[in-house]
Amino acid sequence: MLKGKNIVLAVCGGIAAFKAAALVSQIIQAEANVKVIMTKSAKEFITPLTFQALSRQPVYDNTFIEPDPTKIAHIDLADWADVVLVAPTTANVIAKLANGLADDMLTTTLLATKAQVYVAPAMNVNMYSHPAVLRNVETLKRDGFTFVDGSEGFLACGWTGKGRMAEPEDLLQVLKSHFTVKTRALAGKRVLITAGPTQEKVDPVRYFTNHSSGKMGYAIAQAAKDQGADVILVSGPTSLQVPEGIQVEHIISAQEMYEAAMKYYHQADIVIKAAAVADYRPSETFTQKRKKQNGDWFVGMERTIDILKTMGENKNSQILIGFAAESEHVEEYATKKLQAKNLDLIVANNILMKGAGFKGDTNVITTITKDGKKKEYPLLSKAEAAISILNDIASYMERKGNL
Ligand code: PMT
Repeated sequence: MLKGKNIVLAVCGGIAAFKAAALVSQIIQAEANVKVIMTKSAKEFITPLTFQALSRQPVYDNTFIEPDPTKIAHIDLADWADVVLVAPTTANVIAKLANGLADDMLTTTLLATKAQVYVAPAMNVNMYSHPAVLRNVETLKRDGFTFVDGSEGFLACGWTGKGRMAEPEDLLQVLKSHFTVKTRALAGKRVLITAGPTQEKVDPVRYFTNHSSGKMGYAIAQAAKDQGADVILVSGPTSLQVPEGIQVEHIISAQEMYEAAMKYYHQADIVIKAAAVADYRPSETFTQKRKKQNGDWFVGMERTIDILKTMGENKNSQILIGFAAESEHVEEYATKKLQAKNLDLIVANNILMKGAGFKGDTNVITTITKDGKKKEYPLLSKAEAAISILNDIASYMERKGNL
């Protein structure tokens, strides 16, 4: 669930900072990416080098260190994050966040991020129950921050009670459920998915097609169904088993895919076009098998209808997602398709990369949204890629206020 996710872990000055090191190690073992921010006080308890070594990333501890002139570090970090966890969080940082202060790397990044922020407090029991702290906690909850408390128990200061930071295993679970919960947000949505190749007939025994197996589209259909969506799958010819509980329309040609997809288009909330639709079909077809003849045979080709483009031109409230199978200039071409076809999100795959694209069980994808969020994923199984795509769609819809 965490594989390929971008996690910002902000560490404040408290004895529980040592537990944050264990957490970083667990996040890395879950194959997520983690970047650590440290406050000045955090460095009194643990060194940046520990986090750098565990996360294999530079540690962010100074807003004014800008190694890359093309970027502003705290904004870049804020945009990079899929989720932010502040652990341990001190009373001081809770107060700063509640009042919108921005005087170091942690506070500037947190003010700028659109990602969900989880806060794991760690402090003395009396500090935690102080009216000023409670007031600030309430403010942050109203602002959308989620608090994760540890169990009551022995505190390093000698007192017993509330204030222990949640254990790294529990915080890891919170991060995992963050992504599970988000995908459930598609429950009740009508999702139209196209998958597989199309076959463009020449005569009763010959046709033009491509290498699509349907695996990517079927994985999305399965993931969307698992998350409670009402799924309609328009499928080209594949050898795959249709997942149970999914309504399917089997088609052969691009024209049939167009007709089937358009039939459901206006009732759909989300449309995901993972199919590899033929761009051309033979301009002449034969009802009988064309006999072998002497010399070459030149087959004239005409354009098929661009289903995705037609959908983009006739969009009402649908969230429209296209794929881009590219072999070069992947991002540039994908972004052009996003704009030209009036899409909300495009999933780019470089079909020449090892483990990506047609046929196999894995893919390497980059998602780009209309509002300019780009996410590059490592090699994932198509099932994992499907969940990541649905998460990115859900995040986009949340930002638009559609979820
Ligand atoms: O099926 P698999 O073996 O698992 O492989 C997965 C995949 C490589 C097919 C999939 O990940 C993928 O990239 N699908 C899109 C392939 C494609 O046709 O890309 P394109 O760049 O040519 O088309 C761009 C988009 O326009 C696609 O969403 C496509 O569905 C759509 N399109 C294209 C042509 C057309 N006539 N009508 C369309 O709607």
